[in-house]
Amino acid sequence: MTATQQAPEYPMPRAAGCPFDPPPKLRELQEESPLVKVHVFGRSVWLVTRYADQRTLMTDPRLSSDVTQPGYPSPQPQLPRDEDGPGIGFILMDDPEHARLRRMVTAPFMIKRVEAMRPQVQKIVDDLIDDLLAGPKPVDLVQAFALPIPSLVICRLLGVPYEDHDFFQLNSSILLRTTESIEARNKARGNIGGYLYELMGDKLENPTDDLLSGLAERVRAGELSRKDAAGIGVLLLIAGHETTANMIALGTLALLEHPDQLAKLRDTDDPKLIASAVEELLRYLNITHNGRRRAILEDIEFEGQILKAGEGVIFPNDIANRDPEMFPEPDTLDVTRDARRHVAFGFGVHQCLGQPLARMELQVVYGTLYRRIPTLRRAVELDDVPFKHDGAVYGVYSLPVTW
Ligand code: HEM
Repeated sequence: MTATQQAPEYPMPRAAGCPFDPPPKLRELQEESPLVKVHVFGRSVWLVTRYADQRTLMTDPRLSSDVTQPGYPSPQPQLPRDEDGPGIGFILMDDPEHARLRRMVTAPFMIKRVEAMRPQVQKIVDDLIDDLLAGPKPVDLVQAFALPIPSLVICRLLGVPYEDHDFFQLNSSILLRTTESIEARNKARGNIGGYLYELMGDKLENPTDDLLSGLAERVRAGELSRKDAAGIGVLLLIAGHETTANMIALGTLALLEHPDQLAKLRDTDDPKLIASAVEELLRYLNITHNGRRRAILEDIEFEGQILKAGEGVIFPNDIANRDPEMFPEPDTLDVTRDARRHVAFGFGVHQCLGQPLARMELQVVYGTLYRRIPTLRRAVELDDVPFKHDGAVYGVYSLPVTW
């Protein structure tokens, strides 16, 4: 057997009965070595297993996020490049173009601007809880609560009509389900791209004060093509609702399985403790569970090895967030620990643009839901909860709850 054949397949399965923990094989590899080779769709790729090394390498400009670069470790079978449509924004681009486009939408996600939205988000959360309490039980927390919150928020911010939420939620769920066929995922991406391209046309004609109208202004000024503007819209719309929705539902389930930790949140109105619980749940759950992926543009000497140009590298942030060198007793969920240096939002130039918004939304949710419904509980066995093992973003497909 060659070394390549012996390399384990990535991503690895989680252990049965441990839906909140990274795959045990990742822990084994982390203990064994800081750098290992794994197999991704028949290709041999580097895996960086430890927290400190991930932080060092993820800022290295010799790494590329461009999926068309040789060696890029394709997520699942590779989606063909979106030659005709708007694509998926700057997340798969390198600097300087990545930085140029990202700068155009940085301001609305800055802490001060996001904090100004907190009362609106609180109202959305309170209204949805009123509806839950007035409606039938059990109820699916994903559909009735976790998905509407970030969808409503990102729609308002971007200027996307919320009436279209069934359309974009359905298409992004297909796009992010790795077991869907390439054709289905490609069609879903094209549907959202076409929708945003049309919407950009409206914003060009009738601009208001939303984020997409701001991009339309740049299109008029000749700084941006309508296609690229729509691509940024696709990225923000998908990233803005899918991730946070999964953190709301999976975070709630994790807390229900750790009643001592849930009690700490339920019994406090201390914003510091609520903020710390958000960071700890982001660390502990790390929902972007298929690793940050990059192509190597130039040889890099690291830990006595040469990462060669044309090879691929993966940073599994989930196991970095469970590195005992960084987080003592890493497998314990402890909402009082200082977890702020986690890498659940990535690290380096592509670090999550929407993190202040995600944090604020999660603080409002975790700080409100369990206090208003203190007897909230699962309405099905844990084994019957459908986890998104096949999701590009981890979470649950549904979560029946009662109180
Ligand atoms: C809990 C929620 C969220 C998590 C865990 C999360 C996670 C991540 C991660 C890991 C990356 C890095 C990708 C990489 O390095 O390749 C990223 C990038 C990004 N995220 Fe988030 N995200 C969340 C919420 C949001 C929200 C609410 C938005 C708002 C629109 C957003 C917008 C983005 C954008 C635009 C990028 C690309 C940044 C770039 O390439 O420069 N995210 N996110």
